[in-house]
Amino acid sequence: MLDDVAQDVQVAGPGFVNITLSNEFLARCIAEEPISSPHTDAQRIVVDYSSPNVAKELHVGHLRSTIIGDSITRMLALAGYQVVRQNHIGDWGTNFGKLIAYLDEQDSSEQLDNSLADIEQLYIAANRRFDEDSHFAEKAREAVVRLQTKDEQANATWRKFLSVSLAHMQEIYEKLNVLLTEDDIRGESSYSDDLSLVIERLESAEMLVESDGAKCVFVEGFKRKDGSPLPMLVQKSDGGYLYHTTDLATLLYRAQELKANQVLYFTDSRQILHFEMLFAVARKAGFVGPEVKLEHHVFGSILNSKGEPFKTRSGANILLADLIDEGIARAATVVQEKSGHLSDDLKREIAHQVAIGAIKYADLSKNRTHDYKFDWDTMLALDGNTAPYLQYAFARVNAIFTKGGVKQEDVDPRSASVSHPAEHDLAIRLLRFQEAVDQSIEERKAHHMCSYLYDLTVHFTRFYETCNVLNAAPAVRDSRLALCARTANTLRIGLDCLGIATPSRM
Ligand code: ARG
Repeated sequence: MLDDVAQDVQVAGPGFVNITLSNEFLARCIAEEPISSPHTDAQRIVVDYSSPNVAKELHVGHLRSTIIGDSITRMLALAGYQVVRQNHIGDWGTNFGKLIAYLDEQDSSEQLDNSLADIEQLYIAANRRFDEDSHFAEKAREAVVRLQTKDEQANATWRKFLSVSLAHMQEIYEKLNVLLTEDDIRGESSYSDDLSLVIERLESAEMLVESDGAKCVFVEGFKRKDGSPLPMLVQKSDGGYLYHTTDLATLLYRAQELKANQVLYFTDSRQILHFEMLFAVARKAGFVGPEVKLEHHVFGSILNSKGEPFKTRSGANILLADLIDEGIARAATVVQEKSGHLSDDLKREIAHQVAIGAIKYADLSKNRTHDYKFDWDTMLALDGNTAPYLQYAFARVNAIFTKGGVKQEDVDPRSASVSHPAEHDLAIRLLRFQEAVDQSIEERKAHHMCSYLYDLTVHFTRFYETCNVLNAAPAVRDSRLALCARTANTLRIGLDCLGIATPSRM
């Protein structure tokens, strides 16, 4: 039965059978497309990721959701799902009251035009005023009300602030090679008109309970430490709404307008209870049908080399803009060592791609739920399970084609034949790409893709070191070039699943 596929089948101890795939079978498979046909019953999957609170500059605390979510959306899209990216930014509420009140005091227009890099400063200054001056604090609270009751001046300041903030955010996404654009933004503010409807619907589902003038919902199974039922507060006694309320409105929109079959959220683990209660309330109130899958996925923390939270020396959050700059400066040294002869522009571009690759891969290659230590030297190393190792292997495959004067697209995959053990091992790795995509998607964990790409690269390197490509006899040369082309292609698509670029030279 396995005649077509296997060259050897052995019983290897109780319960184990070793099947050695035949070289002919491997060569036949190599000739086929690397990715099987996409899912035809394309489900629509909404992915909520990054979603920063934009009163501040993006910092390290925003990194994991942004790059993990992005990588999962890339793989879902590759597998043929309809992906709807949603950046649920925090662009509403108290923090904005402080900023509006602060900008009202200054000459706001001037202040904002030059403040692209200073959002953090603005926010810190506004917070300081808030803590120190009760008169200002009162003004800030009034500003929130003005904002929410559509006062024109407050809204104009808010819009201006937001556009500065979004420009900063977009700049970071582009530097990080993250796919989110302004079209994917649907922040908290966009649901402000739906909040009263949420309350009405909870009311008509007879789920609303009043306590001290506030409105809340109880769902079975959620208890406080003392065993008493834990309520989810949806409207404060002063009429203000909460984070939960907005998320309920958001779920309504995602289920009814976006017609999501699945909604995935990527945030840190502090929000576990929030999402558990949210999903329970949304289902009980009938906001989402039982057929819609709701999933909240968390991740571990980023630690420094001592295993403490990764912060600046003074204990502040490390800004993503600074982190990226430092990565580029460090990667530039690596690039200079390897490819000092390239033009400065090219070296700068490669250093950027290497830095972003290193930062992302160090994160994505770890099991998502685990903490990891952020260490520049390890993540930028050219050997080991790192992005530069994979990117360098890609550049090496390209160099073979450049040296041989062969265009990759001219290589016929049908000329691949497999005979040397290193070819056999490489071919097996090449054929497991789909499995890596499927497993990463199933568990929503990109480290399966990383482990796969690393394994592929290790076997490519062995092949490269033992099998001469360009000086082999013509038929063998063509076959090996076909294996090389397939390797380059797989590395390119695989690294793209992680949002990591593949420079053709390094
Ligand atoms: N803005 C939130 C935060 O920074 C994350 C939002 C996650 N998405 C959501 N729909 N609640 O913590």
